[in-house]
Amino acid sequence: MSKWLENAIRDKSALVGVIGLGYVGLPLINAFVSAGFRTLGFDVDHRKVDALNSGASYIKHVDSKIVSKWLKARHFEATADMARLEEADALLICVPTPLNETRDPDLIFVEKTARAIAAALRPGQLVVLESTTYPTTTRDVVLPILNHSGLTAGKDFFLAYSPEREDPGNPDYTAAGIPKVIGGYDSASLELAQLLYSQAIVKVIPVSSLEVAEACKILENTYRAVNIALVNELKMLYDRMGIDVWEVIDAAKTKPFGFQAFYPGPGLGGHCIPIDPFYLTWLARKQGLPTRFIELAGEVNSRMPEYVITRLAEALNDAGKPIKGSHICILGMAYKKDVDDPRESPSFVLLEMLLSRGAIVTYNDPHIPKLPAMRHHDVPDMSSTDLTSKFLASQDCVLIATDHSAYDYDFVVKHAQLVLDTRNATKGVKKCRDKIRKA
Ligand SMILES: NC(=O)c1ccc[n+]([C@@H]2O[C@H](COP(=O)([O-])OP(=O)(O)OC[C@H]3O[C@@H](n4cnc5c(N)ncnc54)[C@H](O)[C@@H]3O)[C@@H](O)[C@H]2O)c1
Repeated sequence: MSKWLENAIRDKSALVGVIGLGYVGLPLINAFVSAGFRTLGFDVDHRKVDALNSGASYIKHVDSKIVSKWLKARHFEATADMARLEEADALLICVPTPLNETRDPDLIFVEKTARAIAAALRPGQLVVLESTTYPTTTRDVVLPILNHSGLTAGKDFFLAYSPEREDPGNPDYTAAGIPKVIGGYDSASLELAQLLYSQAIVKVIPVSSLEVAEACKILENTYRAVNIALVNELKMLYDRMGIDVWEVIDAAKTKPFGFQAFYPGPGLGGHCIPIDPFYLTWLARKQGLPTRFIELAGEVNSRMPEYVITRLAEALNDAGKPIKGSHICILGMAYKKDVDDPRESPSFVLLEMLLSRGAIVTYNDPHIPKLPAMRHHDVPDMSSTDLTSKFLASQDCVLIATDHSAYDYDFVVKHAQLVLDTRNATKGVKKCRDKIRKA
């Protein structure tokens, strides 16, 4: 292990570089700055770099006040200059890992980052991949690129994988409070990575290899995708039988062991759960093995928007209305409660489906004032509409797609003609319950 780096981590003089200043990178910087480290943030997006250097954040849960505090303490600087990668003692990679057009892993951002690091790598640096990916990525994709530097892993530089488990919008867990699993290329890399993270994170869990750490993250996300698919499927069955699936789940979770509650919804969203399991499917195909649970979960979860639209059509039909020409307001465009992240949000699928059926659609989302451009959707130019009593009454249906806490559900139900609730958000509403349909 590098004695110099070990000492620099222990006395917190090590400079921590974070590459990719997004939903994962910024909370991670916050954890290290809070622990007393100086940080250097890298991003290819100059607008983000300029915003951060002027004290402005673009992420709700790491707000501008926090960024200003980092800057004032001189514990943070952002840059798009990749030559400066050399300055950092540890480099934590938090760049996106999406799927490509054929739903295979797209490692282009990880590869580009590895190339930039290889060009700047100097002896004594610790490189950690945090992006979610399939097992073997660090060894078979990142390491060969870093080897172009002419330096040797485990001797000249150190390499580890530590998956990010950030849960945006969850007030109970910040990056510093979520235990971190770490796999090292060798024992020296593991020890250094363990030492670094243990300065800033509540608990570190060393595992025996890079691959175990990579596989662990995919297991966690696949577990969620499969269990959400299970409750989504049961929702459709129970609904047909007149049983409320949310009440069933609330009853089941009173069992003190052996059951964890997952909740149905209008479909999967976010940058992780709908995507990461397919990294494993791709890998399994290469190994000649099927991943039937993942495929089936994907199939069930991706059918949910269609189910919601069918339920909406039935509810409107009961009121003697077709979808075509009806005014429908979608509440919540973010993929989950209380976040401003629209990535993979099923609300955009619902929006497209409603527009294609001739509905007159509006939306409200306190966290998304204007609809952003999306990679896989044709998004109309639309801004969030204020939820006044007059506006709500003018809508043929209010479709609750995301259960933000900011909504006054009593007010919504009181003034709307019809409410289609995909999240059980109106659970606590006592009056006018006959206007509510669940989907
Ligand atoms: N968002 C989450 O809740 C979450 C949770 C756990 C894990 N993850 C994983 O963490 C990784 C990052 O996700 P995110 O949500 O922070 O993504 P993000 O899109 O919010 O942020 C990624 C940032 O990386 C930057 N970037 C892209 N290529 C770059 C390059 N070559 N060099 C420097 N910067 C570059 C982008 O401009 C962007 O600002 C992904 O692998 C994701 O699966 C995300």
